[in-house]
Amino acid sequence: MAKVAIVTGGTRGIGEAISVALKEHGMTVAANYCGNDDRARDFTERTGIPAYKWDVADFDGCQEGAAKVAADLGPVDVLVNNAGITRDGVLMKMDYKAWKEVIDTNLGGCFNMAKAVFPGMRDRGWGRIINIGSVNGQAGQYGQVNYAAAKSGIHGFTKALAQEGAKFGVTVNAIAPGYIDTDMVAAVPADVLAKIVARVPVGRLGQAHEIARGVAFLCSEDGSFITGSTLSINGGQHMY
Ligand code: CAA
Repeated sequence: MAKVAIVTGGTRGIGEAISVALKEHGMTVAANYCGNDDRARDFTERTGIPAYKWDVADFDGCQEGAAKVAADLGPVDVLVNNAGITRDGVLMKMDYKAWKEVIDTNLGGCFNMAKAVFPGMRDRGWGRIINIGSVNGQAGQYGQVNYAAAKSGIHGFTKALAQEGAKFGVTVNAIAPGYIDTDMVAAVPADVLAKIVARVPVGRLGQAHEIARGVAFLCSEDGSFITGSTLSINGGQHMY
């Protein structure tokens, strides 16, 4: 039986590449999205992967969305918590809304989705949860106290849940991407981005498929002894 995977934020950017990579690895994939219906429709037409709409920051929405995927495709074996947003700004200018939206989406989404699928994985004795962190959660980033806190929280969440899943065959790992060529990074002012890229030892932005391949590996049987770890894929930007 093909494994069933949910990829949150799975119709665009890094999430799109992950959805496609998991499909190529023989999984039945459901790509979650929240905002952009046109992009989701286009994604499904191009890839044949169904898109499901809910907001990962909404606890009840996650339970209902995951239940719908399970009813349509089968019990969920793999969860990739990829959905994330930025609301960049220095602390002096950041309002509470910008703080809360990023924490609720990027970190709260991991809790909400894990609550929906972890119990079933545990009962069936097999599961994979991959949380997408960030180099900026490991190293911090000027103008991102919200995002860095949420992403750093993801790394702690990963290590704690890994301990709870280990004896039930459920591995929980994180990937910490560096600056990847996506819409999110394109929104960084060009002069600021040029300075960041100049400090990346390999001297370029990463590509979404370079993250997706790491996710596919961690989801495979070859990754079964890896849990509670963080795989940094950042061109050497932060060696940790
Ligand atoms: N370190 C120290 N000082 C810095 C700095 C840095 N990294 N960046 C900017 N500054 C300084 C500037 O030199 C400037 O100083 P002066 O006033 O003395 O000249 C001051 O801070 C204000 O800088 P800005 O003009 O840039 O301020 P702003 O308010 O217009 O913008 C900002 C601030 C929104 C943080 C903007 O700098 C920015 O967008 N930075 C990029 C943030 C970033 O990297 N986001 C990543 C998004 S992608 C992502 O998050 C994916 C992932 O996981 C990697």
